[in-house]
Amino acid sequence: MKDQARAKARQLAQDFLQRDDRTGWFELLYADAEENEEHIPWGDMMSNPGLVDWLEQKNMQGNGRRALVVGCGLGDDAEELSRRGFSVLAFDIAPSAVAWCKQRFPTSSVEYVVADVLQTPVEWQHSFDFIFEAYTLQVLPPGLRAKAMANIANLLGADGTLLVICRGRAPEDHPGLMPWPLTRDELNTFLATGLHQIQFEDYQDQEQPPTRRFRIQYTRHSDQHTEAPL
Ligand SMILES: C[S@@+](CC[C@H](N)C(=O)[O-])C[C@H]1O[C@@H](n2cnc3c(N)ncnc32)[C@H](O)[C@@H]1O
Repeated sequence: MKDQARAKARQLAQDFLQRDDRTGWFELLYADAEENEEHIPWGDMMSNPGLVDWLEQKNMQGNGRRALVVGCGLGDDAEELSRRGFSVLAFDIAPSAVAWCKQRFPTSSVEYVVADVLQTPVEWQHSFDFIFEAYTLQVLPPGLRAKAMANIANLLGADGTLLVICRGRAPEDHPGLMPWPLTRDELNTFLATGLHQIQFEDYQDQEQPPTRRFRIQYTRHSDQHTEAPL
């Protein structure tokens, strides 16, 4: 079933890209799914193991600090951060995904909103202590990623932490089909915006078959409040 869902997502992505609509297919995929997660390729209804593992390793507690989840999908990662004491805002471009999160977690303290990472609200700038981005960059065509990364970087507050998890590839590897893995060079856009890299992990995950992932931790030092150049 997930293979069918992935094939459908790839077809939708291709059809929309051909009409130069690079993000419109997400809403259609979620709306068509009618809240059946089997139709969502990434709809595994559990927190990202790479996030949970990282939070455990760092023994990180929210203590009321503000967290943001980019492209939150069905909301499991936002709920994970909320359980650990963060005050969480989670956004997705697809209204049907946001409605689904609210339906799944009716008593949640997470604020779920519709927003576009390519046009983030001005009032969000530099206002989050922790930002989690998993698998959104890799579903955006390469030409949109630099803008998305610059916007994400601009949302991070002083001394905040940005954690990114994505599929990874070497520059000489073919990008293949959507989701398109990122190279380290592409991710260096975050550094060009003034963030500092704390840790870069390159590993095979526990899925069958295993997938190459990058997990990167960035921070913004407190004396850096310059706007990202992109
Ligand atoms: C591959 S899914 C990952 C969802 C979630 N992060 C997860 O790991 O399960 C990518 C998500 O990003 C959302 N998305 C795509 N383009 C976006 C954009 N421009 N702004 C905000 N969200 C976007 C999609 O609707 C989708 O929910």
